[in-house]
Amino acid sequence: MEKHKLNISDMESGEVRIMDLTEETSIIVVKENDNYYAFKNLCPHQSRKMGNVELCGLSEIRCEHHGMKFNIKSGENTYSAGYFGIPKLDVLKIEIKDAEYYIQFPD
Ligand code: FES
Repeated sequence: MEKHKLNISDMESGEVRIMDLTEETSIIVVKENDNYYAFKNLCPHQSRKMGNVELCGLSEIRCEHHGMKFNIKSGENTYSAGYFGIPKLDVLKIEIKDAEYYIQFPD
């Protein structure tokens, strides 16, 4: 596991930030109210980066490619057009230590 420091303290509520931690590792961080949520930037629909993601509705993000929506807290697919078999987003835990934000990313 590798630990990465995240520069996210300046994010506004409703903001979505795509962060490339390494050449192969991209994550998405969303701030909703005072809470931060993070997940791998890999859409479970076609295993590709999600493109321009936006927060829509309550605690949902939408993938740019085919419009599927996922809950930012649980990672579950909330798109209701017969795609309930799609796996969850890979949700990542953000740690807060001494007012700094970190994420553990599996190798
Ligand atoms: S690749 Fe994300 S909805 Fe299809």
